[in-house]
Amino acid sequence: MSALGKSSVRLQGVYTVKALREFIGSLQLTHNTIALVPTMGNLHEGHLSLMHLAREYADIVVCSIFVNPTQFGLGEDFSGYPRTLLEDEALLEKQGLVHLVFAPEEKDIYPFGLDNTAKITMPGLSKELCGSGRPGHFDGVASVVLRLLNLISPDILVLGEKDYQQLILLKRLVRDLHLPVQIVSGVIHREADGLAMSTRNQYLSPAERKVAPKLYCELVKLSKLIKSGGEDCQTLVKQSLSSLETFGFKPEYIEVRRSIDLGKPMETESPDGLIILAAAWLGNARLIDNIQL
Ligand code: PAJ
Repeated sequence: MSALGKSSVRLQGVYTVKALREFIGSLQLTHNTIALVPTMGNLHEGHLSLMHLAREYADIVVCSIFVNPTQFGLGEDFSGYPRTLLEDEALLEKQGLVHLVFAPEEKDIYPFGLDNTAKITMPGLSKELCGSGRPGHFDGVASVVLRLLNLISPDILVLGEKDYQQLILLKRLVRDLHLPVQIVSGVIHREADGLAMSTRNQYLSPAERKVAPKLYCELVKLSKLIKSGGEDCQTLVKQSLSSLETFGFKPEYIEVRRSIDLGKPMETESPDGLIILAAAWLGNARLIDNIQL
């Protein structure tokens, strides 16, 4: 039996839209609820924590594994992104919580090819924060997640708070397009030293790996200073940016936003309900993290 008191399940893999439709079709007859956990694979504990959450909310857990080309920009790591389907399936099998892995090929998800495909254009927030350094990224995320929702028709969509802007934008997509799915989010899973788990952490050299947790340390420090209300927020953010540079990071941004919608807070806003988000390069790894105040 699993920690949830539900019995361990046998993992099944499907690799085409046709096979997926057959599986989902047979499920719909049973009236079981479905939770979808979309991923790009190379699964780690952070991903696995979302499978737990999914199983708490639904009878059937589907994990999709697809390195989505439309969310990578030119010169980004699409071709080098780790693809480890066999290991991922072994991990999920061992965990015993996921019923189905859906690992399609590109032509199945984008049948008209990447240059001739229908794309979602996300609203303004998609161009801020991570979107300003990665133009089109969130349009690509929305374009693939909408397809997965259409193919799987889950009752629950499980997403991680690690990618907080992605979470808020996908909540927005669901409301805006009246999609019949409930979003449930899971907290950030961290290594023992505080570094948020991420597939891209493996791009760090051993020396960089030792420095990487300082990103989270800086966010913790900044959140305490903002809460104590002494100094002006923008001054504190500038100090954090320059500390990161001193440690060897190339910060893209640190920003304080409203956690509910990632809107810019008013100067008089109380720290409750705020979130600090950051993205910084360390060597070849682009790290993101956030902390709620
Ligand atoms: P990926 O980076 O594989 O992440 C899949 C899910 O795992 C996301 O919801 C992400 O927020 C969550 N996640 C990643 N690291 C986590 C951690 N340390 N703790 C908790 N959750 C974590 O995000 C994507 O893939 C893609 O953009 C996707 C939504 C699949 C669309 O292609």
